[in-house]
Amino acid sequence: MRILLTGSSGWLGSALAPRLRGLGHEVIGLDPVSSSETNIVGSIADRELVMQTVHDNRIRAIIHSGALHKPNIENRANSDFIATNVQGTLNLLDAAVAAGVERFVFTSTTSLMISQAIRDGFEGGARKAAWLTEEMSPEPRNIYGVTKLSAEHLCRLYHLQHGLPVVVLRTARFFPEADDMAHAIEQSDANTKANELLFRRLTVKDAAQAHVAALEKAPQLGFDVFIVSAPTPFRPEDCAQLIADAPSVVARHFPGYPRLYARKGWTMFSSIDRVYDPSRARERLGFVCKTSFADVLAQLRAEEGDS
Ligand SMILES: NC(=O)c1ccc[n+]([C@@H]2O[C@H](COP(=O)([O-])OP(=O)(O)OC[C@H]3O[C@@H](n4cnc5c(N)ncnc54)[C@H](O)[C@@H]3O)[C@@H](O)[C@H]2O)c1
Repeated sequence: MRILLTGSSGWLGSALAPRLRGLGHEVIGLDPVSSSETNIVGSIADRELVMQTVHDNRIRAIIHSGALHKPNIENRANSDFIATNVQGTLNLLDAAVAAGVERFVFTSTTSLMISQAIRDGFEGGARKAAWLTEEMSPEPRNIYGVTKLSAEHLCRLYHLQHGLPVVVLRTARFFPEADDMAHAIEQSDANTKANELLFRRLTVKDAAQAHVAALEKAPQLGFDVFIVSAPTPFRPEDCAQLIADAPSVVARHFPGYPRLYARKGWTMFSSIDRVYDPSRARERLGFVCKTSFADVLAQLRAEEGDS
């Protein structure tokens, strides 16, 4: 299939493009930053470029991952977010409809589901962790979330009005760099990422594979929105204890973890304020992340055996 991939020079784009090519697809990368995965250096905000690219390359599917995102909030104006994330998505949808594109996958974010109240968590007086599913009505707290949610609505509208099959993937975090949040302060990067796999992270490989699954299933699904995050061991009934005393909940699910963590000098977050539930992706998309917290523990156990 001839696929247009936006954001092809990015972290996700550079993991996804080779994977798609390995499956026999022809990938045309579009990104304002040049890289070995990018064939067209340009912006999705450039409507003429987008219309022409989709038409001239006889594109059959679009995977739309290019965006301004959280790290850009500090250095880009709100209007840049609108131009890239909203107008850019609209340009792609219009080009898709005009050219009879058969599948559209949009990379969204779980972060749009985080209101200020959820973010304030325990310190803000929350009595339990937020259990987050696709059923909730999000109230995004920043321009990133607002523009991603607007783009999701455009996707839904184009499905309704034009029958374009669209799958929206609200992915949890997969960025490689250390976190900016209070959570991370006490922990090493590897420790933080391991902890986050319990409730709000996935590997970039799993993020890329979710896009492959969405591409394959889009015509069958019509339109759907999925949270994509590593499988969580937690249940809604855990939420009160998660915010008050997360380590004891984790120990209940993984009795071996305290010893393995202690040996490594790792610690668990004292409080967990949210859990992304990826069960709809499992049920309807048939997708489950390969790497989870259990794999980290298995790795720690293997290291123990080696020493
Ligand atoms: N990294 C995460 O943890 C995370 C979490 C949730 C969702 N996402 C989403 O995943 C997608 C990929 O993120 P990433 O982590 O690979 O980030 P990244 O910054 O590495 O990649 C984003 C790419 O989009 C490109 N881009 C920016 N403006 C563009 C424009 N006008 N036209 C075309 N491309 C443009 C950038 O140049 C960059 O190469 C984004 O849509 C992001 O919102 C990322």
